[in-house]
Amino acid sequence: MTKKSSLPPILLQQSRRRVIWSGWKLVIILSMGLCVFALFRLHLSPPPETLLSRRRSSFSREVVFSGPPKVAYLFLVRRGLPLDFLWGSFFENADTGNFSIYVHSEPGFQFDESTTRSHFFYDRQLKNSIQVIWGESSMIEAERLLLDAALEDPANQRFVLLSDSCVPLYNFSYIYSYLMASPRSFVDSFLDVKEGRYHPKMSPVIPKDKWRKGSQWVALIRSHAEVIVDDVVILPVFKRLCKRRPPLDASKGKLNIKLQKQHNCIPDEHYVQTLLSVSSIWFCFYPLLSSDLCPLLSSDLCLIAFFFLFFSMSTSQMSGLEGELERRTVTYTVWNQSATKMENKGWHPMTFSYANASPRKIKEIKGINHIYYETEYRTEWCQTNSTFVPCFLFARKFSRGAAMRLLSEGIAGPFDASSILARSVPD
Ligand SMILES: *[C@@H]1O[C@H](CO)[C@@H](O)[C@H](O)[C@H]1NC(C)=O
Ligand SMILES: *[C@@H]1O[C@H](CO)[C@@H](O)[C@H](O)[C@H]1NC(C)=O
Ligand SMILES: *[C@@H]1O[C@H](CO)[C@@H](O)[C@H](O)[C@H]1NC(C)=O
Ligand SMILES: *[C@@H]1O[C@H](CO)[C@@H](O)[C@H](O)[C@H]1NC(C)=O
Repeated sequence: MTKKSSLPPILLQQSRRRVIWSGWKLVIILSMGLCVFALFRLHLSPPPETLLSRRRSSFSREVVFSGPPKVAYLFLVRRGLPLDFLWGSFFENADTGNFSIYVHSEPGFQFDESTTRSHFFYDRQLKNSIQVIWGESSMIEAERLLLDAALEDPANQRFVLLSDSCVPLYNFSYIYSYLMASPRSFVDSFLDVKEGRYHPKMSPVIPKDKWRKGSQWVALIRSHAEVIVDDVVILPVFKRLCKRRPPLDASKGKLNIKLQKQHNCIPDEHYVQTLLSVSSIWFCFYPLLSSDLCPLLSSDLCLIAFFFLFFSMSTSQMSGLEGELERRTVTYTVWNQSATKMENKGWHPMTFSYANASPRKIKEIKGINHIYYETEYRTEWCQTNSTFVPCFLFARKFSRGAAMRLLSEGIAGPFDASSILARSVPD
């Protein structure tokens, strides 16, 4: 071996390593700085442009709009919309410039004269819809597709997620002003301590104290819809570790044993609320602090990282976006504990039929003005923009008969029997 330098090889190696490290340090510090800068911009100035979003559309979205802001009604359905007649009457009483409709149904399903009685739904099905398996993360992905499509229209400022069994409890203008008045999203969100759906492997991306549970049916402001569509950090964790344990299936034989051992977790009851409670600034530091890199780096670099973290903790970023939420849902559900043969004992939503959707019952639901959250000893007095209001704007699950009863009582708007008759003839 020939020596090419007067320095002993070990020193040469060290000095080379030092140069590389300084380069790396610079890169890491710069990117952290950029990340923090981006987050503060996101927080302070209206056009949000996150560094985390890698999507073309997040840039093309930022177009100013004129005219009234719209509420985007996002229907997540299995096939058709059985309660289209009630929604048709609801939208009939709206100004067409104040709302938009998006439907996610199974791929290939079309909304047209042959599948819906309401022209409002014609052609509103997403072109890129996916096959949804109830209780699995494909459900969250369908929600994200709906939000993504709705974000393309800059006029959409509120985003309401609805199922095929949801009904409105008020007319359009009441719901419109209620939602528009609130600068916050309505997201049912509470601590989930008992059920063990949190998987320890979710840490540190999702710290245990940020794990939340709540109703899937949310009403969002635009910036939160963007956070959900742009999320590339929390979703992969859900896809990997949050899966529903399927009911026993005789045809699966031995596979059942394996499936029953699977960690039970229902993604749609946790995703949005958990995502919004995890700090977005955490995403910047997570790769650095969680890797084995930190102990290997010189201590001053870690100190700087911790300084940034500490600094950001003092801002609202550290507590996630929960401060921007009304932590409740606007969609009413009655839960009924029951046990079916195949499934474990569990809570199931009760379905309203013609008989139990009486005016008295509906009035009772509309009269609810607070919700008690047992796990947090928290009573939520329902508000929009600091004004006390009834808690619920929508309800599920309604049968056709129950929805027919709401229609005839003029819940969604003045009832006009002739309009239904007229609609059976194609216009
Ligand atoms: C809508 O409902 C609200 C409250 O229920 C009522 O005060 C208002 O007059 C209704 N508006 C229309 C256009 O029917
Ligand atoms: C439509 O939006 C405008 C502007 O926000 C509002 O004044 C009007 O009341 C809305 N119409 C309905 C039916 O809610
Ligand atoms: C919210 O309430 C404040 C104070 O009462 C009022 O000035 C503001 O216009 C309201 N915002 C909306 C969007 O209604
Ligand atoms: C609760 O569910 C069970 C079984 O599904 C049903 O028999 C019962 O009537 C339900 N109770 C109510 C109040 O709906």
